[in-house]
Amino acid sequence: MGAGNEEPRRRDIDECVAGLAGLLLFAGFMFALYRCIGFPPAYSAAITSASGLDYRAAEPAIAGGQPAPPLLDPLFNLTVRVASRNKDQACLNPATSVRVHYMGVQMASGRVPPGLCAAPRQSKELPVVARGEAVAMSPFLLETLTADVRNGDALFKVSLTSPHGDYWKVYNCMAKIGMPAAECEGPYVHAPDMPPRQTTTHTDQ
Ligand SMILES: *[C@@H]1O[C@H](CO)[C@@H](O)[C@H](O)[C@H]1NC(C)=O
Repeated sequence: MGAGNEEPRRRDIDECVAGLAGLLLFAGFMFALYRCIGFPPAYSAAITSASGLDYRAAEPAIAGGQPAPPLLDPLFNLTVRVASRNKDQACLNPATSVRVHYMGVQMASGRVPPGLCAAPRQSKELPVVARGEAVAMSPFLLETLTADVRNGDALFKVSLTSPHGDYWKVYNCMAKIGMPAAECEGPYVHAPDMPPRQTTTHTDQ
């Protein structure tokens, strides 16, 4: 180690220390920000099991005296989870309905049991059952669904819809049967295929 190398090396070390200190300061700032403000609640849904998706086991249907594609009576056992990511508790509106769609066709619906509330910075999950009765699908969709279910590839859209003033607040979660919970996207505030709710005031919360 020659004396001529001392100065540049020290400068390198100084820069390195300053960089590290800056990084730590930034991390501390972000941590404090996260502690103070946090993030909005996160929702997720998992399909723990499902039945009634095998059309060969379903009763053949008759439409206008002609044999028609069989109707399905699907049942989905779901787990819906809400996580608080700030200093407030996070709840799912007790009027929330759950719908399960496959490629745009509604397969089943159900309601969230009351009391799905997570304590601050905690999460809570509850089982939800969604059922469908006499669901009609085109022969093509039935084939696709059967093949997808057999391969464990069937991708369902689980949506959580709750009243939001005059509108509806919707979270969409893409889930496969037996797979870990899928984080929901949203909220989307709209009312595409549902009648508007009768309310006198519009509350934005
Ligand atoms: C769904 O869960 C219920 C119990 O909550 C159980 O009796 C039923 O067999 C389950 N269905 C399926 C398809 O796993």
